[in-house]
Amino acid sequence: MEELTEVVCDAAKKLKKNWQSCSPSLAIICGSGWGSIADVFVQKNFMGYSEIPGMSKTTVAGHAGKLFLCGFQNSEFLIFQGRKHFYEGEGWAPVVFPVLLAKKLGVKSILLTNAAGGISNHLEVSDLMVIEDHMNFMPGNPLIGPILHQDSPRFPDQSKIYDSHLRKIIVQAAKDCGTTLRHGIYLALSGPAFETPAEISAFAKLGADAVGMSTVPEAMVANSLGMKVLGLSCISNLAAGINMDSLSHEDVVRASQKALPKMRSIILRFLHLFF
Ligand code: HPA
Repeated sequence: MEELTEVVCDAAKKLKKNWQSCSPSLAIICGSGWGSIADVFVQKNFMGYSEIPGMSKTTVAGHAGKLFLCGFQNSEFLIFQGRKHFYEGEGWAPVVFPVLLAKKLGVKSILLTNAAGGISNHLEVSDLMVIEDHMNFMPGNPLIGPILHQDSPRFPDQSKIYDSHLRKIIVQAAKDCGTTLRHGIYLALSGPAFETPAEISAFAKLGADAVGMSTVPEAMVANSLGMKVLGLSCISNLAAGINMDSLSHEDVVRASQKALPKMRSIILRFLHLFF
């Protein structure tokens, strides 16, 4: 992990050198279909993931692989356009690297977005769900190994990962945009296969509202680093067995792109209220 810390320092150094000014207080990690929210913000600078030490190329459709430094009034924020997933087979380091890099660059709050399958019957396709809490059903835990940062406890408390103040702000932002957000528990699996109907039926009994293949490792790491975390899922499909449709990643990306105008205006309003 010492090596990882060194690479994070190299990446931060390169960005600061190339971008000259760089003092973001917020970072947004874009999940499937969310990447184009970057189009409407004032982009001061960007760099492709392949040019940033420690950030390998994204391999999944809908994950462009660019890091933007954006300006909002007198503040700056980062947009990671695309993420790495555990199922890509490179371990936890590339999955959690953006969070470590954001921390190194001074980010205090992080918005994690994703596309998710709706389990609860209060969720419909294209709903946006504020993550209230999560269940980690991924194989293992990204915090195993040496402590990621000098400020991280060995045994991080996880009783309040998702920050209540940030949740209030996003709810207000959505209200201002005429949208009611849903709320729920997000359950993460490694993927890459979608779930079976029997698994979804079991997860429903456990109390999961939505299911996906991301977000939880980043949330765990950000929480362990003392960052404020907000999670937002776009319900891109109903989970396996809830209706008779078969599932495909193309449908997931298409459905979340349909919700894009709504996502953009809510995030824009969120920035107004946040900064
Ligand atoms: N299952 C898992 N991950 C997902 C889904 C799903 O139904 N939809 C979008 N990501």
